[in-house]
Amino acid sequence: MIPHEPVLVEQVLEYLQPRPGGRYLDGTLGFGGHALAVLEKTDGRAEILGLDRDQDALNAAMDRLIRAWPEARVIAGNERFSRFPLPMQKLGWEALDGALLDLGVSSHQVDSPERGFSFLRDGPLDMRMDPRGTGLTAREVVNSYPPRQLAKIIGQFGEDPLAGRIARHIDQARRSAPIETTLELARVVEAAYPPARRAKSRNHPATRTFQALRMFVNDEAGELAEFLKQIVPFLVPEGRLVIISFHSLEDRMVKRFFMEQAKACLCPPRQPFCLCGHKTTMRILTKKPVTASSQEVAANPRSRSAKLRAACRVSGT
Ligand SMILES: C[S@@+](CC[C@H](N)C(=O)[O-])C[C@H]1O[C@@H](n2cnc3c(N)ncnc32)[C@H](O)[C@@H]1O
Repeated sequence: MIPHEPVLVEQVLEYLQPRPGGRYLDGTLGFGGHALAVLEKTDGRAEILGLDRDQDALNAAMDRLIRAWPEARVIAGNERFSRFPLPMQKLGWEALDGALLDLGVSSHQVDSPERGFSFLRDGPLDMRMDPRGTGLTAREVVNSYPPRQLAKIIGQFGEDPLAGRIARHIDQARRSAPIETTLELARVVEAAYPPARRAKSRNHPATRTFQALRMFVNDEAGELAEFLKQIVPFLVPEGRLVIISFHSLEDRMVKRFFMEQAKACLCPPRQPFCLCGHKTTMRILTKKPVTASSQEVAANPRSRSAKLRAACRVSGT
């Protein structure tokens, strides 16, 4: 079984429009499902730079891609996608025909208890996408951040209306002993939920808290913001940018970015002449976010919250 089923594959190909000889950045290679589709579409003749923070995912993806297309030019980089210009420079690549981000974590990461992403399996509270790195872990955040900051993280990234209550419960629980494992944390969060609310909720009460901690620990919103700031000049004219997000905050960031890039001027509407110097750099290809069909959601429930947006660089900018 494939450890991660890619979402919206047909739609990615439709908007990325990969062609033989084209150069593509897959900033979230994961298990290489989308990259494989690009190779299949181009008869193995697209060049792909695949990045992932997770070395194990990269190894598995490369095995899979090389086995399927031994002659293909696929280069893997254990790098954050916000730093994509670096590996491009090393390769001597100046421009991209397209770039893809499929944000968040893979099913394999979530299903590996030792990674600490899941509240359904017991494991250490880690949640780093790059577990070999030295970055902050969820354990440190949960046990050392002041309750107010915890509440802010759970509110902002988890959009949980009970963020303050959950933070107070965490603070109370960690006074007797540090919270070490995913199931310990899940129990504390569950206890913060009033029983009536727990009964009404479709998801486990810890869903949003875990999502929030994961996003915070990996600075996911910061990564996306940094990537967006840099990507446009690296795209060839008519080069495509395709982004799949699973969180409303990230979808909003992509939507706003595309809208700004599509505008000819960013000055306030009542200003009589333009002072901003901004020019249209991108054309939006998806008026509304593209979502998975009911068949895809039935086959792959993870696709339920996926939103794909695409834009292309405008010629002559
Ligand atoms: C949803 S999965 C991608 C799945 C992939 N498209 C496939 O078809 O198998 C997201 C992957 O992106 C990686 N990732 C998330 N944020 C990243 C970042 N800022 N830089 C590099 N890799 C990142 C994760 O480690 C994970 O393997």
